[in-house]
Amino acid sequence: MEYTFSLEFIYLIASVTYILGLKMLGHPETARKGNLIAAGGMSIAIFGTIFLYQGEVPQIVYTLIAIAIVIGTITGWVVAKKVDMTKMPELVSLFNGMGGASAALIGLIEFHHNIGDQLSILTIIAGMIIGSVSFSGSMIAWAKLNGSMKKPVRLPKYNIINNLFLIGLLAAATYIVMSGTDSQLYLYLLFFAALLYGILFVLPIGGADMPVVISLLNSFTGLAAAFGGFLYGNMVMLTGGILVGSAGTILTLAMCKAMNRPLANVIFGAFGDSGAAGGDDSEIKGSIKEASPSDVAILMNYSQKIIIVPGYGLAVAQAQHIIHELEQLLISKGIDVKYAIHPVAGRMPGHMNVLLAETNVDYDKLVEMEDINPEFQSTDVVFVVGANDVVNPAAHNNPASPIYGMPILDVENAKHIIVNKRSMKPGYAGIENELFYNQKTSMLFGDAKDALTKLVNELKNM
Ligand code: TAP
Repeated sequence: MEYTFSLEFIYLIASVTYILGLKMLGHPETARKGNLIAAGGMSIAIFGTIFLYQGEVPQIVYTLIAIAIVIGTITGWVVAKKVDMTKMPELVSLFNGMGGASAALIGLIEFHHNIGDQLSILTIIAGMIIGSVSFSGSMIAWAKLNGSMKKPVRLPKYNIINNLFLIGLLAAATYIVMSGTDSQLYLYLLFFAALLYGILFVLPIGGADMPVVISLLNSFTGLAAAFGGFLYGNMVMLTGGILVGSAGTILTLAMCKAMNRPLANVIFGAFGDSGAAGGDDSEIKGSIKEASPSDVAILMNYSQKIIIVPGYGLAVAQAQHIIHELEQLLISKGIDVKYAIHPVAGRMPGHMNVLLAETNVDYDKLVEMEDINPEFQSTDVVFVVGANDVVNPAAHNNPASPIYGMPILDVENAKHIIVNKRSMKPGYAGIENELFYNQKTSMLFGDAKDALTKLVNELKNM
């Protein structure tokens, strides 16, 4: 590869923007700017490579690159602009899969250029396998997130099959690297086997365990890109890949902690047994209490401390603006109001933070699970809006439940619990929630936007 000094300098600037951007993504207040800075760095790196690279490139390649950039930019722009907030997690999965596919294609293209160079072949094969797993796994995750694949699919003895398949895949990869073969057939067989493994890996996972697998696939894509950067000796690709890979790994560990699943169980597939059964059939006995918007308004009006628990339903109803209005109204009445943020609430990491950031909620009011849990005891009303699994006490007290062991928001400790949702249907994990039958709980049925609008109107008249 032939690089000019100015291209190396551009790569250095781009690498710095990635690090800066990533740091800024760590806080909702700076996240938008961080994203723009990193994207700017990426654009500089792309155009720098196109215009400053000094090696021999046929004209047709430039034409193809230009066409790919135009198609990619227009598609990405239109899709990202048009996508509903609720469909954002699927889109992220799709984009992640595309990154994996690109890394895998590098392997397919570069293999025969590097025959005889064992280190390069090792790099190529590693990047191709990881990229392919990330691509096909992300496609399955995408189908699961958009609801077209509702139940986890389990082959009999799927754990054993998956692990044997993985061992076979690694053995075949080792053979290709060690033997120095130039067989394209072997390469393509390995490629398709890796795609198949990605499918087998994600298929059995379901219910509440999806967040872990999504962040793991994210780190795979970063790792695959880093192998590409290593192969080409391209520093900016290497830095970008390492940053995505390590950020994805940190997120995976955070998600494992949030779901209380050991990472080894995630990687070797055992966690499907305990965590992703997609439903326990135990019927919860008891009756539910219903409340009207005016009942809830009266209760809130006489409270001193209220905690709001947002969940996926808040995003579905697009009720983020009205909930902010409710919060402001309550604060104007001298009530202490906070939001309790569960790490896997919604359908993507940070979903609730992103949603509430849209309405300029004061970020100090968004309190993480560990910090808010001790506060429920001193809370008059906890208002659960469109959340279900993240407040399901079965995680504490039903060993047969698929979510048993997952840390939840301890809303049961509050004096009064109000739950807003449209029906008694379960959440993503597909299990019943005994919280709704708790004596302290009242159900405020209805679409979150409608119910909150009525509630705000009632409160305004008090
Ligand atoms: P869920 O458990 O999915 O519950 C959401 C609830 O919102 C549903 O029970 C639904 O009940 C209600 N709802 C839907 N539309 C509504 C509307 N328009 N108005 C009012 N309520 C509405 O959500 P959660 O508590 O946020 O938990 C997240 C779940 O998703 C966890 O199981 C998590 O593991 C999983 N998951 C998370 C991620 C990430 S990374 N966050 C990724 C994949 C999966 P009704 O239908 O009765 O209204």
